[in-house]
Amino acid sequence: MAGGDTGAAIRGRSFLDLSDAGGDAIAAMIGDAQTRKAARAGWPKGRADADAPLAGHVLGMIFEKNSTRTRVSFDIAMRQLGGSALILDAATTQLGRGESIADTARVLSRMVDAIMIRTDDHAKAQALAEHASVPVINGLTDRSHPCQIVADLLTVIEHGKPLPGLELAWLGDGNNVLHSLLEAAALMKFNIRVGAPEGYDPEEEFLAMARDAGCRVTVTRDAAEAARGADVVVTDTWVSMGQEHAEAKLAAMTPFQVDAALMAQAKPDARFLHCLPAHVGEEVSQEVFDGAQSLVFDEAENRIHAQKSILLWCHGKLSAG
Ligand code: CP
Ligand code: NVA
Repeated sequence: MAGGDTGAAIRGRSFLDLSDAGGDAIAAMIGDAQTRKAARAGWPKGRADADAPLAGHVLGMIFEKNSTRTRVSFDIAMRQLGGSALILDAATTQLGRGESIADTARVLSRMVDAIMIRTDDHAKAQALAEHASVPVINGLTDRSHPCQIVADLLTVIEHGKPLPGLELAWLGDGNNVLHSLLEAAALMKFNIRVGAPEGYDPEEEFLAMARDAGCRVTVTRDAAEAARGADVVVTDTWVSMGQEHAEAKLAAMTPFQVDAALMAQAKPDARFLHCLPAHVGEEVSQEVFDGAQSLVFDEAENRIHAQKSILLWCHGKLSAG
């Protein structure tokens, strides 16, 4: 957040990737999310938490791509923290007519207390953060999806699986969600086996990040090998937003579908995660998606609880963060 020419004091910190917070803060986010979630069990979803820590705060959300979970969970998160959120559909704002990211950042910094952006181009999120004088949150870019992974880690821990030493299997496309998972592995010290067809590996930078942190990271072309002995099996769409719907890619991905036979390779108490939206019958079978090992709807709900902790961290209001 530069913000120099706005004359505004820099307030808070941005969350463009998990490393912006670091392992201790992510652990604090997860702990805070669990505490807040338990404290409001059974309450109406829009009622504010007792302490309403972000009372009066407004989050502006820029969407250059579709969203259900990120959009609703940030809105509800702000309500539960005592604040509010507004949605800026990029196509109907001046951004869609070419107003610069820098000017948008400077203007929004005068009007809202934090900005979330979902965009095709990670550089845009970085530019927004550079020119804003309020925190900027990455709500998904072509490169990463850090907010999703805070919710995923919360879900894994809630279901009794500690992160250090966890064996996580990723099946399918080496995409933005996997990038953030690899970053999380580096920070929280768990191991990842990636099962992906040739040509669809994650960026080397993220593999190196996890390996350099001492995590065991393998990439295999054999789906069963990736899933074998895993505590958690994760997949995502084979075609991310903004990517071409290529038949060749779908064909290459087919052996990596998470079905019952593949889940049987994992530990008997293994769990299945998917950030959603899912394409049932492609990356996951109906049986696994709806099966007893699937946590996908807990994971979706946890987006709210995770967003709250992320927002609190950005505003310097997370205890122990
Ligand atoms: N998982 C996720 O980010 O969902 P949305 O695209 O619906 O926000
Ligand atoms: N990898 C997917 C995640 C959607 C939440 C995408 O970028 O479209």
